[in-house]
Amino acid sequence: MCGIIGYIGYRKASEVIFKGLRKLEYRGYDSAGIATVSGKGISAIKDIGRIDDIHAKRNFLQLEGNMGIGHTRWATHGGVTQKNAHPHTDSTGKIYIVHNGVIENFDSLRAALAKKGHKFVSETDTEVIAHLVEEEGKKEGDFGKAFANAVAKLSGSWSLVCMHQGEEAIYLSRNGPPLILGIGKDEMFCASDVPALLDYTKRVIYIEDGDLVRFTREGYEIKNKGKKVERAVHTVTWTAKMAEKEGFDHFMLKEIHEQGGKIREALAADASGAVALLKGQQNITVVACGTSFYAGLVFKQLLQSRLGVNCDVIIGSEFAYARTGNERVVVAISQSGETADTLSAVRLAKKSGAKILGITNVTDSSLWRESDATVNIAAGPEIAVVATKSFTSQVAVLSKIALTLSGEKQEISSLSDASEQIEQVLERAGELETLASRLAPHKDFFFIGRSLSFPSALEGALKLKEITYLHAEAYAAGELKHGPLSLLQKDVVVVALAPSGTSLPKTISNMSECRARDAQLVAFSDSDEAISKSALHFRMPRVAQLAIPIVYAVPLQLLAYYMAVKLEKDPDKPRNLAKSCTVE
Ligand code: M6R
Repeated sequence: MCGIIGYIGYRKASEVIFKGLRKLEYRGYDSAGIATVSGKGISAIKDIGRIDDIHAKRNFLQLEGNMGIGHTRWATHGGVTQKNAHPHTDSTGKIYIVHNGVIENFDSLRAALAKKGHKFVSETDTEVIAHLVEEEGKKEGDFGKAFANAVAKLSGSWSLVCMHQGEEAIYLSRNGPPLILGIGKDEMFCASDVPALLDYTKRVIYIEDGDLVRFTREGYEIKNKGKKVERAVHTVTWTAKMAEKEGFDHFMLKEIHEQGGKIREALAADASGAVALLKGQQNITVVACGTSFYAGLVFKQLLQSRLGVNCDVIIGSEFAYARTGNERVVVAISQSGETADTLSAVRLAKKSGAKILGITNVTDSSLWRESDATVNIAAGPEIAVVATKSFTSQVAVLSKIALTLSGEKQEISSLSDASEQIEQVLERAGELETLASRLAPHKDFFFIGRSLSFPSALEGALKLKEITYLHAEAYAAGELKHGPLSLLQKDVVVVALAPSGTSLPKTISNMSECRARDAQLVAFSDSDEAISKSALHFRMPRVAQLAIPIVYAVPLQLLAYYMAVKLEKDPDKPRNLAKSCTVE
């Protein structure tokens, strides 16, 4: 949530920051701004809207100088207004700051500063920090110390990037949301995420909680608890090209199309550490949010049905209330590895002695670093806000772990076949585009599935609602008659996932119940009987039971994508959402 960036070097700062913000826009896109320092002083441009639109209107590149900071916002405190957009400044207009996170004590800080005569122009918590640094600067000649003293007064979560007029240096502080330092030759960068830096450097340092950093174009110094610390320099393996659309209209479409190959990479992942950690455990807890939670549901079903192991899957933000406190092993699933709800569950579990297995797409993310064992799902950068390839890669990795634990390694080959079946579905994308045209006028959608197709139904409904803003929800197929059936009528669409297998006859009965209530029934199935019961359908290839959650996810992603396009919504940047939710 919110993308932040800073630069000092020999390039035009506004250009580096503008390009970087475009790469970080998936983190928030309701407003954006850049401030740079030049011989003329500090200048800033900020406004509401998408970065490209603001640039077209205000021209970020008119900002001169070789040092600057920038921000793309996902609003927390204060509405989406030009005044609330970052960067924020102090009373003198000489200190500029961008922030990702939430300052929990900002009300009391603001009141205390107001008593001292500070006037605020925005409703944000961030502006308070700029004034706090200014106030601390009155007592403390050294800007670094003033910044550190201000940070010490904050509670909540933050990544801060701060600069001031009169010194060619940028100051950082991290307590929660991610922050990365990029090391170049005669230039230094900082950003919320790696893609913003890939055009310039692959050498990065992951700033840790509690770190205070000062960097110039020549180098950096990191302090933690007042002492100088060294942090490892990592070489990023992602390339700039991986974070481009490569000819696709949207990142979402590109990422959907990558899934055949990505499944193979996920199945080749080294899961030995995960297997060693889970072996012999009779109770396993999974924590995750959103799409990653649905991948966790697949894992639960495999662990329980194939190993007889008890598995609880808990939404990250509910873990604090639902946990027993006796969890011995917690599997945390997170594409970004930075989701605050999941990380907070992990930290609670660790405190009471649990070992953590982190399943993530981002090596060196917070989850990666805080876990006892890790598996990289190897899906590559996922830029679209909605998860697609990360879901199928998570399921592939989790299935491999479950099958290795249950001694059914030979079954992993049926998952390899999923790659080919995904390609078959992708070749028929045109049929899904046509289906999307037929369904686009409808307003209410129910997705139903049983057994391993139930998590896919949940994921299909989430995809549709996220990017089309239509009402969509998912139920276990047998659950409709326990209430939701009362909502069915003509024009309500029921998308039924009906793969062949032991659950099919009962799913067909549930489909008949929907048809009897005049719902528009759409089957995703390889079964003639299921298809014959439906008004519309997409014929699926016949897939092994284990491959159902992976292969059935793909046409549902495409359906949602084409419906969003038909409805003229941006599938990459759904309203109100942001990738990587770094606030609780
Ligand atoms: O990075 P994570 O996997 O931890 O993210 C979890 C959710 O925020 C994420 O899956 C979200 O639900 C997506 N918008 C789904 O498309």
